[in-house]
Amino acid sequence: MRKNIVAGNWKMNKTHAEATALANDVVGSNYAHEVQLIMFPPAVYVSEISKIAASSNVAVGIQNSSQHESGAYTGELSTSMIKSVGANYVLVGHSERREYFNEQNDVCAAKVDQILKAELTPIYCCGEVLEEREASNHFNLVQSQIEEGVFHLSADDILKCVIAYEPVWAIGTGVTASSDQAQEMHKFIRTLLVDKYGIDVANDISILYGGSCKPSNAKELFANADVDGGLIGGASLNASDFIAIANSF
Ligand code: PGA
Repeated sequence: MRKNIVAGNWKMNKTHAEATALANDVVGSNYAHEVQLIMFPPAVYVSEISKIAASSNVAVGIQNSSQHESGAYTGELSTSMIKSVGANYVLVGHSERREYFNEQNDVCAAKVDQILKAELTPIYCCGEVLEEREASNHFNLVQSQIEEGVFHLSADDILKCVIAYEPVWAIGTGVTASSDQAQEMHKFIRTLLVDKYGIDVANDISILYGGSCKPSNAKELFANADVDGGLIGGASLNASDFIAIANSF
């Protein structure tokens, strides 16, 4: 059975002192333990925050990884390095990576392969920009992101992945997809998975919603049959908001 997950993407925020304080607050909070909590701090803090989280049920991930195994790629981090400092999850294809670093689906697919090779869990992000939704092209766009990013995987491997639907127009804007819009797209993604891998595999894959998810709307979003949690940006920078979201199932 698929997991409920609440993942906090801290993006490029927090000093060292602030980041360790936030991690300690999250780890020390009360939340329903059937929810998998994941913190995605900036890469430089991952090693230390993994130690802070080590004796808890909170997992740690990294916001990006290289599609290459090792070698002359200045500034990049390989999945084996990431694994060696205690992270278990990796974000792939976040819209900010796609937009500002020109990451296309083929690069995302190569990253997913490296992540799985290192026995880490990819959280594969997809989602449309506003113009695509307004042109009614959002289903096609998300379909191609999913097909080109993860459909090369075997059933065994896709079961090791998490998918996050993040409409770009809802990220950091305060505008959330309505509960119906979220469920509609999550159901569409689940149906793509059913068609490709069958119902049993599709039902075991968690699909998270991201985009201005906060304590005031998380309950309504998570109540949907195909919304298995959230990928939280702004609201994950505050431990009590993040925990309130985790307690919204
Ligand atoms: P937001 O970001 O919650 O601040 O909208 C979500 C994300 O980008 O993962």
